[in-house]
Amino acid sequence: MLDGAAISGHPTVAVVGRSPEKTAAVAQRIGGRAHLADYGRLDDVRRLAADLLAAYGRIDILANNAGAIFTRRTTSADGHEMTLQVNYLAPFLLTNLLLDRLTVAPDGARVISTGSNVYRRARLNLDDLDGTRRQHRDQQAYPASKLATILFTQELARRTQGRGITAVAFHPGVVATDLGRDSPVFRLMNSWLGRAALSTPRQGAEPLLYLATIADPQTINGSYFNRLKPEDPANEQARDPHLARQLWERSTELVGLA
Ligand SMILES: NC(=O)c1ccc[n+]([C@@H]2O[C@H](COP(=O)([O-])OP(=O)(O)OC[C@H]3O[C@@H](n4cnc5c(N)ncnc54)[C@H](OP(=O)(O)O)[C@@H]3O)[C@@H](O)[C@H]2O)c1
Repeated sequence: MLDGAAISGHPTVAVVGRSPEKTAAVAQRIGGRAHLADYGRLDDVRRLAADLLAAYGRIDILANNAGAIFTRRTTSADGHEMTLQVNYLAPFLLTNLLLDRLTVAPDGARVISTGSNVYRRARLNLDDLDGTRRQHRDQQAYPASKLATILFTQELARRTQGRGITAVAFHPGVVATDLGRDSPVFRLMNSWLGRAALSTPRQGAEPLLYLATIADPQTINGSYFNRLKPEDPANEQARDPHLARQLWERSTELVGLA
C-alpha cells in the first residue's frame, strides 16, 4: 500500500503480512511500515483497516496480493472455506473498509488485485461460494477465488465510477514461489526445477509495478491483464456484469458489510 502524503514527498509503503518476523524484515528492507493481519480472520482484516485509516491520511495504491492454495478443505475462523476467504473475501472486505480513504487521493487511487489465468477454467456458484456442496479440490477452489477477484475488479470499477478510483487485476505469470507449499504437486514450483523453469518473483512483480505507474489509469479501469497485456476474460462467467453485481451483494453479506 502506498501513502503519498508522507513527509518530504516520498511515498510510504505499508507492508502487510501475517508473520511478525517476515513482515518487519520486508518493511525494514524497503523503509516501509509493518502492519499485521491474518486473512483467515476477518476480525484481523477489520483491525488492519482501522490501523491503516488511523495511520494514513490518504492511500494512493492498494495492492491486494496475499493468496494461498489449500489442498485440504480448511475452514476459517469466520466459517468460510479458507481459499475463498484469504484470496477473495478478506481483500474484498479490506477494500470496502478503505474505499472512502481511497477516494481522497488527489491524483486518483488504484486498487490492483493479483488474479491468475487459472480463472479461465473456474466456475462460480453463488449459492455455494464456500463449496460446501462439493468435494474440496484445490483445482476448483483456487481458480474460483481468482474468478471472483476479476468480477470484484469489474464491479468495483462500475460502483466507483467518477470517484477517482481505478480497479485492475492481473496475472503475474507462473512464478517460482512458495504459493504451493501445501500441495505435493504445486510445491515443485519452488524446487530447483521450478526455479529453473518458471519466472522469478522479480519478474512476477513487473505487472504490479507497471499497473501502479501506468499513465492515464482510467483507460484500464475494470480490466484484467495477462502480465502486461490487457485480456478480454476468456470465461463466460468473467464477462457477466449481472454475476459481478450479484457476487458483490453476496460478498457483502458473507463479510458482514450489508
Ligand atoms: N506463483 C504463481 O505462479 C502465481 C500465479 C498466479 C497468481 N499468483 C498469485 O500471486 C499472489 C502472490 O503469491 P506468490 O506466488 O507470491 O506466493 P507466496 O510467496 O506464497 O506469497 C503469498 C503471500 O500471501 C500471504 N498470505 C498467505 N496466507 C495469508 C493469510 N492467511 N493472511 C495474510 N497473508 C497471507 C503469504 O504470507 P506468508 O509468507 O506468511 O505465508 C505471502 O506473503 C497470490 O495472490 C497468488 O495467488 C501466483
